Amino acid sequence: MFPVTRPRRLRRTAAIRDLVRQTRLEPSNLIYPLFVRSGEGVKQEISSMPGNYHFSVDTLVEEIGQAWGEGIRSVLLFGIPDKKDEVGSEAYDDAAAVQQAVRALKDSYPDLIVVTDVCLCEYTSHGHCGVIRDGDVENDPTLELLARTAVSHAAAGADMIAPSDMMDGRVGSIREALDGAGHSAIPIMSYAAKYASAFYGPFREAADSTPQFGDRRSYQMDPANSDEALIEVGLDLDEGADIVMVKPALAYLDVIRRVKENFGVPVAAYNVSGEFSMVMAAVEKGWLDRERIILEILTSIRRAGADIILTYHAREAARLLS
Ligand code: PBG
Repeated sequence: MFPVTRPRRLRRTAAIRDLVRQTRLEPSNLIYPLFVRSGEGVKQEISSMPGNYHFSVDTLVEEIGQAWGEGIRSVLLFGIPDKKDEVGSEAYDDAAAVQQAVRALKDSYPDLIVVTDVCLCEYTSHGHCGVIRDGDVENDPTLELLARTAVSHAAAGADMIAPSDMMDGRVGSIREALDGAGHSAIPIMSYAAKYASAFYGPFREAADSTPQFGDRRSYQMDPANSDEALIEVGLDLDEGADIVMVKPALAYLDVIRRVKENFGVPVAAYNVSGEFSMVMAAVEKGWLDRERIILEILTSIRRAGADIILTYHAREAARLLS
């Protein structure tokens, strides 16, 4: 009791605060998401995500060279296709932008961890994450296409596969296909608890992947549920997921904590486009202190229980932490 107990003693100097700090944030915890398309010399800013671009393979390699110098060791690649069709063919085309980017990156930076997002929504003309039959997103026929995409990424040299589609059974299908193609050493980081969120708005502009009809609520989770997150995570782990992700992060810190406490496996959290753009907009207006807000947000996601954070702030955060 006061006056014997005085918590302020351990806050007195910066060195003491460092000594007792519980949560550490390091560049090695961060995964930097990037968008790649075909062409040469392309570096086109995404208007809703300042400081993020559509890159062609050559400019992507340059960007990642700089990021590597700043301490970034992992990236997540999304592809912007030349053509979209009903079944998202370019997703599993060995010559598409993502596959080329993986080869080029592993050539230039063999130690870089290259994670690829596996989904169809950027590649389908209707913008849904699976194939459509009678106006519905069909689960089972989609699995084979996702598995084909994953194998194509692994064959190009991807270090880790991250399925983000939310079809039932996709982790098992992808695991089986990877193993069958000789990629049993390639881990799966599943978007296990992925919510139907308004925070994906800027990403959908970036990837031009807004559904042309309906929405994603028949496959992504209801924001009101957290028990369901445990069911999803449990299933993905049973099917062979190595890392499980909660997405978005900030409005779902409680879910991150529950997943970490219940399963004790490596947990990733995706600090998504809307969370990023919200901060950048306030920073542009001069309403928030850019550096402090970025580090506070990322620290809070780590404190909630995330081992890994996917964030568009990755490069800047790595610079701030060095
Ligand atoms: C594809 C996918 C999305 C995101 C990651 N993978 C969009 C969506 O589900 O609509 C969102 C990433 C972000 O907002 O930063 N399924």
